[in-house]
Amino acid sequence: MSLPASVRDDASAIETHLERLFDGMTGPATRLSDAMRYATMNGGKRLRGCLVLAAARLANDGDLPDGAMNVASSVECLHAYSLIHDDLPAMDDSDTRRGKPSCHIAFDEATAILAGDALQTVAFDLLAMPATHADGMVRAALVLALAGAAGLDGMAGGQMLDLEAESRVMSLDEVRRMQAMKTGALIQYAAAAGGIHAGAEADLQTALELYARDLGLAFQIADDLLDYDGDAALLGKPAGQDADRGKASFVALMGLEPARQAAAQLIDGAEAALAPWGTAADPLCFIARFAIERRS
Ligand code: IPE
Ligand code: IPE
Ligand code: MG
Ligand code: MG
Ligand code: MG
Repeated sequence: MSLPASVRDDASAIETHLERLFDGMTGPATRLSDAMRYATMNGGKRLRGCLVLAAARLANDGDLPDGAMNVASSVECLHAYSLIHDDLPAMDDSDTRRGKPSCHIAFDEATAILAGDALQTVAFDLLAMPATHADGMVRAALVLALAGAAGLDGMAGGQMLDLEAESRVMSLDEVRRMQAMKTGALIQYAAAAGGIHAGAEADLQTALELYARDLGLAFQIADDLLDYDGDAALLGKPAGQDADRGKASFVALMGLEPARQAAAQLIDGAEAALAPWGTAADPLCFIARFAIERRS
């Protein structure tokens, strides 16, 4: 399945925006900015950035609000940081990412750690800069939302639980909570941030968050399914790692077919949350379907 042209256009606009961001990076630590660029500009799907843009358009009568591209680029920088650290030997020890040597292989571990650190601050810098939104309260709300999604109770906390899942038996509820934190939180943030930036009405903001909560969980189930039966060459990252490590996941606990069905049901739920917005919500529904039908 491929995404509709409008979403693909958004992905390439994000690509161009990020490219310009890295072009503007000066200063003496060129090895660090090279590593940051390497780990970000390497063929990611830009799904989180596209979610920001699609949600912002839905909340703004179909038009992209000024500055929304900074919010989309910001979440992609945060995500790139999470992938660099996820691949480190101390974590998943993955040598490939997005079809190329992982950042710590192409550079070295210390540089990769720093590249992740600095990409995280770029993400917050992009949200806080005046060009992102004229209203400082909106910028502060975006910063607060990203801090919540990325930190102890979000991605970083979920990554901690994920490491523990290699050596501890987990119940389905525990796996659900771990997935919701490590992957769901940033995906939920992305849709919410589009709404926050565009000043969505309360009912749409709630619907965006419900949509993305289900999407986030389905997205990680799909990632786990791809780890189980995907093609490493197509994925651009190792396959089979979760099973090798005995990691608790939906696939490990439920089996292949029930996990597939659970993901499909979650996507039905995500689409249902946006049903009152009719065809205006189509781009978000396409992204949701794509999340579980993708092969990479
Ligand atoms: C991979 O995310 C890591 C997870 C959170 C499962 P993506 O599949 O969105 O990775 P890219 O950005 O397209 O490479
Ligand atoms: C990573 O989950 C989630 C992150 C927060 C980066 P995985 O470890 O399953 O992601 P992949 O499979 O390496 O992309
Ligand atoms: Mg991992
Ligand atoms: Mg990994
Ligand atoms: Mg995975």
